[in-house]
Amino acid sequence: MSQHLTAIYDTRVAEGLLRPDPAQRAVLLRMETLRAALESPQRKGLLARLLKPHSEEKQGLYLWGGVGRGKSMLMDLFFAHVGITQKRRVHFHAFMQEVQGALHAARKTGVEDAIKPVAEAIAQDLRLLCFDEMQITDIADAMIVGRLFERLFAAGVIIVTTSNRPPADLYKDGLNRKIFLPFIKLLEERMEVDELDAMTDYRQDRLAGAQTFFTPADAAARREIDLIWTDLTGGRQEVLTLEVKGRHVTIPRYWAGMARAQFNDLCGKPLGPADYLALVGAVKLLVLEDVPQLTPEKSNEAKRFVTLIDTLYEGKIALILSADAEAEALYPTGTGSFEFARTASRLREMQSAGWGAAS
Ligand SMILES: Nc1ncnc2c1ncn2[C@@H]1O[C@H](COP(=O)(O)OP(=O)(O)OP(=O)(O)O)[C@@H](O)[C@H]1O
Ligand SMILES: [Mg+2]
Repeated sequence: MSQHLTAIYDTRVAEGLLRPDPAQRAVLLRMETLRAALESPQRKGLLARLLKPHSEEKQGLYLWGGVGRGKSMLMDLFFAHVGITQKRRVHFHAFMQEVQGALHAARKTGVEDAIKPVAEAIAQDLRLLCFDEMQITDIADAMIVGRLFERLFAAGVIIVTTSNRPPADLYKDGLNRKIFLPFIKLLEERMEVDELDAMTDYRQDRLAGAQTFFTPADAAARREIDLIWTDLTGGRQEVLTLEVKGRHVTIPRYWAGMARAQFNDLCGKPLGPADYLALVGAVKLLVLEDVPQLTPEKSNEAKRFVTLIDTLYEGKIALILSADAEAEALYPTGTGSFEFARTASRLREMQSAGWGAAS
């Protein structure tokens, strides 16, 4: 018998890795039920559904709540301990990009309803699909997601997803939102919708005592940042690729809404506001390392850095930074250096306790 998810949680609490939170524990009880269903060899549910397609049986869990409450952590714990191989965990945004690409390819072959073969290909050999950070901002996604999920559910896939919003608030104020309403209904009908009303923003908590601005950007800073990064991510990371207007923006290290990149990854290349906006849409925290002393020859890099910080600031993204100089001394001369004062001031504000705490 494998260990109950709440027992694994309790062990982590006993080891001092997690603080005990009844709301989180309650979610694990629900996840345990899903896990048992997934691990049972006889998919009785599937047969029942085939006979009675609109049966009441829920086909997944939609977990929503404020930032840093532990949704991704709980989903990771669940995902790691479901004893099946036909499972997949993916960032929602990356998944939708993959789907859009596959739809594009399928349409080229002239199929009438491209969603059907694409969904079938995804559902092939898959019983559990975990999405982190479900959010819909794009009309192209809003238009297809309902039929896509319908097909995935029909194929018997169990879906677990995290989001900062309840289903009814997805794609809020989006263009032509009425085409999206059936999807909300589908989520509410087919998934168990749970709010994770945890005690605190644990990400904020973990960062509260920590230094977040490191100067200079040397080996010591890197070691400190390594420690924070490992603490926040539990030592896991993957590459996240965002597609923006046909370009690919690669975030070398990513986990559960947290990104880690070097100055050159984001400001040393010809990226612009749309790329930074996509980044802000995909993360809650950015670790940006090795910001160099900015000089007149680096005015392009400086300009991108200003745009990046502005975008992070507007998005209330938590920031951990290592730089070769203090904020006020980073860009003393060169085109736009006068306006840099505002960026420096924003950088200061972003270092203050409580920054990014709003959900
Ligand atoms: N009970 C807890 N005790 C201590 N740390 C926790 C606890 N729950 C979560 N954390 C840590 O807090 C951080 C934020 O958690 P997590 O990323 O799961 O939040 P989230 O709800 O997914 O947030 P968001 O909505 O921003 O994606 C992580 O580093 C996680 O390991
Ligand atoms: Mg999360």
